[in-house]
Amino acid sequence: MDCIASSKKYKYSVLAGNIPAHDNRSLPQSVYHTSWSYGGFLNKILTRGIFLVTCIICFTSALTWINLVTVPDQPVCISRHDQEPKVNVTQICRSMDYRKSSRFLTNFKHILLWNAPDYAPFYYFGKGQRAFLQNNCSAINCYVTSKRKFFGADTTKFDAIAFNGRLLKTDDLPKNRTMYQKFIFFNMESADKYPVCNGIFDGFFNWTSTYRLNSDIPSPYLMVRNNTGQVIGPKADVGWENDFPEITEEYSWKLMKKSKAAAWFVSNCLTRSRREDYVKRLQDKLALYGHTVDVYGKCRPLKCPRQQKKLCNTRLETDYFFYLSLENSFAEDYVTEKLLTALQHDVVPIVYGGANYERFLPPGSYIDARKYNAADLAALMDRIIKTPKIYQQFFRWKSQLTYSDPSLVENVCELCKALNDQEKFQEKSVYDKFRMWWNPNYHNRC
Ligand SMILES: *[C@@H]1O[C@H](CO)[C@@H](O)[C@H](O)[C@H]1NC(C)=O
Ligand SMILES: *[C@@H]1O[C@H](CO)[C@@H](O)[C@H](O)[C@H]1NC(C)=O
Ligand SMILES: *[C@@H]1O[C@H](CO)[C@@H](O)[C@H](O)[C@H]1NC(C)=O
Ligand SMILES: *[C@@H]1O[C@H](CO)[C@@H](O)[C@H](O)[C@H]1NC(C)=O
Ligand SMILES: *[C@@H]1O[C@H](CO)[C@@H](O)[C@H](O)[C@H]1NC(C)=O
Repeated sequence: MDCIASSKKYKYSVLAGNIPAHDNRSLPQSVYHTSWSYGGFLNKILTRGIFLVTCIICFTSALTWINLVTVPDQPVCISRHDQEPKVNVTQICRSMDYRKSSRFLTNFKHILLWNAPDYAPFYYFGKGQRAFLQNNCSAINCYVTSKRKFFGADTTKFDAIAFNGRLLKTDDLPKNRTMYQKFIFFNMESADKYPVCNGIFDGFFNWTSTYRLNSDIPSPYLMVRNNTGQVIGPKADVGWENDFPEITEEYSWKLMKKSKAAAWFVSNCLTRSRREDYVKRLQDKLALYGHTVDVYGKCRPLKCPRQQKKLCNTRLETDYFFYLSLENSFAEDYVTEKLLTALQHDVVPIVYGGANYERFLPPGSYIDARKYNAADLAALMDRIIKTPKIYQQFFRWKSQLTYSDPSLVENVCELCKALNDQEKFQEKSVYDKFRMWWNPNYHNRC
C-alpha cells in the first residue's frame, strides 16, 4: 500500500512541476521580444539544427534498441585475463555473425538446453559462452542456448542436447537426431524421487551428467581437495589418508564451548526417506539423556530465515555438537549440499541417505545414522558429547582437506571439457538400459 501511495504522489508532483514550465504565456512578454529581436534567420537555422540532431539521435537509439531486442542469443564476448587463451576470443567474437548461425566457427560446441533453463543444473550454464569464460574454464569454446530454432528448425546441428531429468516428457523429444551428437541426461534430483519410467528412454541417452559418480560428466554437490589443491573426491575409491594429525589445543578449546546436542535445518517436512520419523524417534531417545534435537526451518518452531543464514551457521558452529544431514530420499551417491553446511562449519555431520559415504567423507569424520537404531544412536551421541577426547577425533581431517561446492564452476567447466575430448566425444556411447542405470528399483517405483 505504501508503495502505491508514494508513487502516486510522485506522479502528481512531477505533473505539478511541469505545468508552469510549459505555460509560456506566464512569462513576461519582454523576454520573447528580446530573444526574437536578435536576427530571426540565425535563430531559425539553430532551431532546425537542434531538431535535426534530436531526430538523428532518436532514430539511432531506436535502431540500437530494436537490434538489441531482436538479435537472438547475442554471443557474449568477454576477454579472458589469464596467460594464454586456448581459443582466440577476439577472433571468435569478430567472426560470429549473430544472425546467421551457420557461420559460427566450426570448433565451437553448441549445446541446446531442451528444457526450461531455469531449473538446476541448467541455470548454471547461463547463456552463450558467458559461464565458461567467467569461470575461467580450461575449455571455453562452448555455446549454450535454449532456442530450439537456433539453427533454423534443425536440432541435429547441435553437438549436444541437454535434457533435464525432472522435466522429461515423452511427447516432447527431438524429431531427428544424428549419430554425431550426444543426447545428455542431466539430473540433480534423486533417482528415487524422479525415476524414469518410459521405455522410450532406454537407448536414448548417450551421456549422463548427474550426482551419480559413475556419470560420464559427474556433477556432485560437493568436492574435496587436499592441501595441494588437488581434487581427491568424491569418487568410488578415494584412498583417504588414514593418519591425520591431532587437532591443535586452540581448536579443541573452541570445540569445548559447545553446549547443545544436535541441530537440524529443514524445509521439507514430509519426505520419501521418512527422515522426519527417524528424527522423532531420536528426539525421544535423546530426551532420556537430557539432550534435544533443535529443529530449524519452515515447518518447525525455531526459525532460521534465509537472510540470516550466516548467523544461523555461526550459531551452529559455536553451540552444536552434531548436525543432522538427512537426505529427503535414498539413492546411490545422492549426497546434497546439506552435508557441506556441516563440513564447512565445525560440527559433526550425522548422515542419513542412500550413498556409500566412504566415497564422500574421510573415515572417522561423521556418523552414519542408517547403521544405528534411534536408541543406539542416542547413546552414542551422549557418550561422544561427554568425552571431549573422542569428539575431537572427528575433526582431525580439517587440517588436511577442504570441501567446496562445485556446482557453479567445476561442474560447468566439465561439460565443455567433455565436449572437447575428441576421443570421448567420437566414441559411440548409448545407455541401453537407462531406466535401470538411473534407478535399479524403477520397476517398483514406476
Ligand atoms: C586473435 O585474433 C585477432 C583477429 O584475427 C588477431 O589480431 C590477434 O593477433 C589474435 N591473437 C592471438 C593471440 O592469436
Ligand atoms: C577468473 O580469473 C580472473 C582473473 O584471473 C579472476 O578475477 C576471477 O575471479 C576468476 N573467476 C573465477 C570464477 O575463478
Ligand atoms: C527430419 O528429417 C527428415 C528427413 O531428413 C526431414 O524431412 C524432416 O524435415 C526433419 N524434421 C525436422 C523437424 O527437422
Ligand atoms: C594431493 O593429492 C595428489 C593426488 O592424489 C597427490 O599427488 C599429492 O601428494 C597430495 N598432496 C598432499 C599434500 O597430500
Ligand atoms: C547416441 O545414441 C544414438 C541412439 O542410440 C546412437 O544411434 C548414436 O550413435 C549415439 N551417438 C553417439 C555420438 O554416441
